[in-house]
Amino acid sequence: DEVYPFYGAHQAGIATPPQDHLVFMVFDVTTTSASELQVMLAKWSAAIAQYTQGLAVGSVEPDRAQAVPGDTGEAAGMGANQLTVTVGFAPSMFDGRFGWAKYKPAALKDLPAFASDALTPAFTGGDICVQACASDPQVAYHAIRNLARMARTTATTRWTVQGFGRASRGTGQTTPRNLMGFKDGTRNISSDDDFAQQVWVGADSDQSWMTGGSYLVARKIHMLIETWDSDGIGDQHAVFGRTKAEGAPLSGTGEFDTPDFAVKAADGTPVIPVNAHVALAAHENNNGTKILRRGYNFTDGIDSVGRLDAGLMFISYQKDPAQFSQLQSKLGANDRLNEYIRHVGSGVFAVPPGLSAAGDYFGKALF
Ligand code: HEM
Repeated sequence: DEVYPFYGAHQAGIATPPQDHLVFMVFDVTTTSASELQVMLAKWSAAIAQYTQGLAVGSVEPDRAQAVPGDTGEAAGMGANQLTVTVGFAPSMFDGRFGWAKYKPAALKDLPAFASDALTPAFTGGDICVQACASDPQVAYHAIRNLARMARTTATTRWTVQGFGRASRGTGQTTPRNLMGFKDGTRNISSDDDFAQQVWVGADSDQSWMTGGSYLVARKIHMLIETWDSDGIGDQHAVFGRTKAEGAPLSGTGEFDTPDFAVKAADGTPVIPVNAHVALAAHENNNGTKILRRGYNFTDGIDSVGRLDAGLMFISYQKDPAQFSQLQSKLGANDRLNEYIRHVGSGVFAVPPGLSAAGDYFGKALF
């Protein structure tokens, strides 16, 4: 039963190799009192420190019959299960309600509208995001449930997504598959250099409280599964620019072969089509821009007309949300994949650095 350290330079749950399960929840802060918000964030921080070590906050079974149990109990005895809980602040937190306006990082802005967006109010907006990941779904859910309970008079739940399988590759992991059956995360970030240059906010940023932090972009992406499942394999290859079983670029034979976007077929067209997903997203074609992808497969069952309701809870981390926007501007306009997906949810959050020790809490520098 592996325990990930909670205190450190960066929050856990970013560079952490993706665990198997996700509960992602966005909250609206309902209090207008900065000190009530401060107490909530301090309580959350202390609670997360306990949960990630496999410990409860308060008693599951208090002595007095009238006492309400402090902990809801469903994770009792289950252990830490690699739980990480990562917290981020939306642009709306800096609108002046809490005196935070002067701390707003220039990089933290609502995302622009992208071509082919199909965002719905049900999966957008909100003030604070919490990403709980664990090797057991109940342990991840327990953490979120108890944070929501603790916040009851200061914040309310706004939208949530439960992910049931990692759809990205972290350092040292094999590549999992997304619900389209393709390996996902083959060329994900993993080197220390890439983390330093593309993921962690450096000391040169305009807001020193963000040094060591990152920015989280969340996109709930619905897949048109029935349409995809009736598409021929040749077109599926062309959509991604990779093969399905092996996950090799169409210019090569092995999963980890470097894609060659210049190789031409007999008819003179590139072997990896120019509008294939990887051709548009690759750093070679984006002035070196990369992002850390940390997404999860999700399903919400079936929709009102019986179609499978499922897709990818896309989560990426980058030192500036502009990295995501650069890639999504191209993908939203030209990606062959667009025929089979709809972006229905969206959010962008400033993820502060890790906490130093007990007593430190998220947002401490902002009060
Ligand atoms: C690569 C699937 C959305 C950025 C890939 C790969 C697959 C894939 C199968 C190839 C293997 C790999 O290197 O990981 C999907 C699916 C999506 C989706 C199914 C939606 C449902 C997005 C979005 C972005 C994105 C929204 C960013 C705006 C990337 C990047 C790569 C990639 C940067 C690596 C390209 C390379 O360097 O070769 N994706 N993706 N993807 N995707 Fe996506």
